[in-house]
Amino acid sequence: CGIVGIVRSRVGVLSDLLKSLKSLEYRGYDSAGIAISLGDDIFILKGVGTIDQVIRGAEIPDGSIGIGHTRWATHGGVSLENAHPQVSCDGKIAVVHNGTLDGFEQLREDLRARGHSFRSETDTEVIAHLVEEGMREGLSPLLSLHRAVRMLEGSYAIAMISAGHNSIYLARRKSPLVIGLGKGENYCASDVSALLHLTKEFIFLEDGELAEITPGDVRIWRGDGELVAIERRAEVVDWSPQQMEKGRYEHFMLKEINEQPYIMMKIADTIEYYKKFSERLESALKSGSLSIVAAGTSMHAGLIGKFYLSTLAGFGSDVIIASEFPEWSRHIANGDVILAISQSGETADVLEAVRIARDRGAKVFSIVNVPGSTLTRLSDEYVFIQAGPEVGVAATKTFTAQVASLYVISSLISDPTSSEDLREKLLSISNSILKDMGRVDEESRKIAGLLKSREHVFFLGRGVNYPTALEGALKLKEISYIHAEGYAAGEYKHGPLALIEEGVPVIALIPKERSLINKIIYNLMEVKARGSFTVTIQPPDVSLPSDRRLVVDVEDELTSPLIYAIPLQLIAYYTALELGRNPDKPRNLAKSVTVE
Ligand code: G6P
Repeated sequence: CGIVGIVRSRVGVLSDLLKSLKSLEYRGYDSAGIAISLGDDIFILKGVGTIDQVIRGAEIPDGSIGIGHTRWATHGGVSLENAHPQVSCDGKIAVVHNGTLDGFEQLREDLRARGHSFRSETDTEVIAHLVEEGMREGLSPLLSLHRAVRMLEGSYAIAMISAGHNSIYLARRKSPLVIGLGKGENYCASDVSALLHLTKEFIFLEDGELAEITPGDVRIWRGDGELVAIERRAEVVDWSPQQMEKGRYEHFMLKEINEQPYIMMKIADTIEYYKKFSERLESALKSGSLSIVAAGTSMHAGLIGKFYLSTLAGFGSDVIIASEFPEWSRHIANGDVILAISQSGETADVLEAVRIARDRGAKVFSIVNVPGSTLTRLSDEYVFIQAGPEVGVAATKTFTAQVASLYVISSLISDPTSSEDLREKLLSISNSILKDMGRVDEESRKIAGLLKSREHVFFLGRGVNYPTALEGALKLKEISYIHAEGYAAGEYKHGPLALIEEGVPVIALIPKERSLINKIIYNLMEVKARGSFTVTIQPPDVSLPSDRRLVVDVEDELTSPLIYAIPLQLIAYYTALELGRNPDKPRNLAKSVTVE
């Protein structure tokens, strides 16, 4: 879900509030809503659907203070009542909330017994009623919120307004919340990208903190016990608001796919930036085992990272799916190392894994995209992948930026003097992607045309491209809703081969290395003999028994995932378009999953 709030010294927050809210839709888009304070009353507009659907045709009064929310349902189905903001009985307190409250049912029962009636099934509504009680007893909105959050279990990022008070009140625990600083105005949001059109200066709230923002002031307190005021310096985030716009592209996903060669250039020019991280990781690895922890696409990048660390740096590692970490990590102890990989730096499963690992004395290194994210705060060391904000729900440019970062880190561990070679290699990959982009786009579109009417699609890869095959399948299923599976090409005969019948597409990623090519040719023959329609994504000059070839200019085996990922992303993108799906907003999925 996404949260935003703006407080100004003059009337006129509405258009910026809506703009911020739209830029947060990638965090969830089941329903949306806003609250605008109008002196002694609060105007609420909310509903099911996207922001545009919710505001269509509505007369919305403007004000000097407002909060908004875009929802990805967790507690309570998708309905108008369950959309945020949630309000108190008298409608004078409005709350937007991300996260999930444990055991809120009991609090609701207690409140009911004290005469409160509830309009929704959400955990969030409880907060508004608890604050209302505090205020009825004469507490200020801040003290009421403080008392309320001390009764809550679970995770929350809360933004609250109270009629007649020109402040936004905030509280955070295990769910991100940032404060943006302006001139004569201040802002809050669940992530920086929502506020980039307003400011570059941010204060990042930590767990257990509360804040009050007014047009001219930001005040922060620790709230675990009594409120204790604290000072926190602002940080500058160097992302540009243009990066949050689609520009000439029809979708963010297509724009972000096309940004990849430029991100490779950026990484090529900042090799030195990775040095300190690589040195510290290498020295930490001398005293303990390494576990890579991530979810989704980042987990696939992690598998490639495991390959690099083994092949280039000689370090073995384990890759543990973040949500499985609690059960699969009992061996991790003092001195061991966790390498967490996350685009958002907010995935709840990843953060939980990191907290467990820290409690056991492990050192935490992380590879992140979003500045100021919680993961950076929980890590001993972190690096940014320098991909800029990613808006499309399906990760594309951040996957290749993670892979390139892992390649650079592993190479620097192997040879700290290799900066110049690495730079040249990444620049040459970037050039070759740029040179072929138009043709690869065109051919991927044609392949998508062949996939659109299929029920299943299989992706095969070997070695470093086994995880690339997993990622190709994930992309396709995420945004086209066609069932897709990625497999290690040699493992395929141990089961999935049974699913091959006339016309089932198999997309194979062909290695550059001669020794591996022969093996995959054999795998291709196996599926072809059973009637499969085969597509090869392959280097030039390799003759293969496939029905369709998409040739890319592969530099070397190790960096080939950077190049192969692009046609796979484009195939998924165009298949989604063929089927009339919105690739930027796949059903049921959210970009940043802040619940476990
Ligand atoms: C969600 C997104 C995926 C992403 C995964 C992990 O499921 O839809 O695209 O790969 O979370 O996110 P992270 O921010 O930790 O990389």
